[in-house]
Amino acid sequence: MKIRPDFLPLSRPALGAEEEAAVVACLRSGWITSGPKVQELERVFRGATGAPHAVAVASATAGLHIVLAALGIGPGDEVVTPSMTFASTVNQVALRGAAPVFAECDYGTLQVVPGDLAAKITPRTKAVIPVHFAGAPADLDPIRAAADRAGVPVIEDAAHAIGASYKGIPAGGPPSPGKPGNIAVFSFHPIKNITTGEGGMVTCYDDDLAARLRSLRFHGIERDAWKRYGKGGTPHYDIREPGYKYNLTDLHAAVGVVQMGKLAALNGRRAELAKRYLAGLRGVAGIDLPEEPPYPHVHSRHLFIVKSARVERDEMIAALAERNVGAGLHFPPCHLLSFVRERFGAKEGDLPQTERAGKRILSLPLFPGMSLDDVDYVCEAVREIVSEAAR
Ligand SMILES: Cc1ncc(COP(=O)(O)O)c(C=O)c1O
Repeated sequence: MKIRPDFLPLSRPALGAEEEAAVVACLRSGWITSGPKVQELERVFRGATGAPHAVAVASATAGLHIVLAALGIGPGDEVVTPSMTFASTVNQVALRGAAPVFAECDYGTLQVVPGDLAAKITPRTKAVIPVHFAGAPADLDPIRAAADRAGVPVIEDAAHAIGASYKGIPAGGPPSPGKPGNIAVFSFHPIKNITTGEGGMVTCYDDDLAARLRSLRFHGIERDAWKRYGKGGTPHYDIREPGYKYNLTDLHAAVGVVQMGKLAALNGRRAELAKRYLAGLRGVAGIDLPEEPPYPHVHSRHLFIVKSARVERDEMIAALAERNVGAGLHFPPCHLLSFVRERFGAKEGDLPQTERAGKRILSLPLFPGMSLDDVDYVCEAVREIVSEAAR
């Protein structure tokens, strides 16, 4: 094949003139830290998910941290989560002094196996964190049933899942109107379906939990600077519990508000690109395509992850790089990370499906600014690499 002259990255944020204008307007407004734009983004999120509370934070990681803190999770406690996820979750559980317990994923869909997650719940379990992996929702009904039986909360890791839905319910949404849903954590990192540069959002249903989260994200002060220094505010504050500095700024939120307005179009474009990949790679020997979960869902197509079963994965990544194509690894299984093995006694062989997938997965470029020709180029590159290896 003829190698393209320019490098096709794994991802590139879809930012344009509207985002630039929103940032400039915020800069000129005289208020750039948490204020009206953060409130607007939280309002948009309440509307998009149906959750009564949305708390903007500096990252999904920060959100996970304050959720675990607000739930009082600490030493002696366990949190069940898939090993096939980003290490951020496991880090936050460990940093709270609690222990991660790992559930198996399905090789085809890479989603957590609900039966295994349920089986890993013990009297020490204080929460379960399923992940809407790559943008397809986890099978929430059996997960929620198992968590309800154990009396522990479900925290949806919805970092990949803005715009995804499970049986008609958006990620973080209520199971039926007026009924409380799960706690959910979203990410606005630049690779994600919408971005604010860095940022995140926690949605929840419990008024007290939301108040704790608002306090913990900002020093333990219940009223942020906007409320203290805005018109009619009072500069006094008290701290009942020390908190973190995890607030999102208005500069970031201004970008997020514009991005949320484009979400349907951005995810629509991702869906088109994913469809093209599925058609272009179907039947390629040694490439296992992402399988669709069997329940009704809308996929946000955050990542397009294939498994390279014949060509060694790192060779595939290197051969793609030679052809000017970027690739990603989402994710090295968490139970095999050095600190997790050392601290929690996890080891090779614990999770066979996760480990088999973990050796083979790679993420191909997928971002709204790609062309269908770009997808065709990547598919041709993959086919060529596979057939050269067969010779
Ligand atoms: C599954 C998952 N959870 C959590 C995070 C953390 O998100 P953030 O970078 O916003 O902290 C990520 C980020 O890549 C992720 O992929």
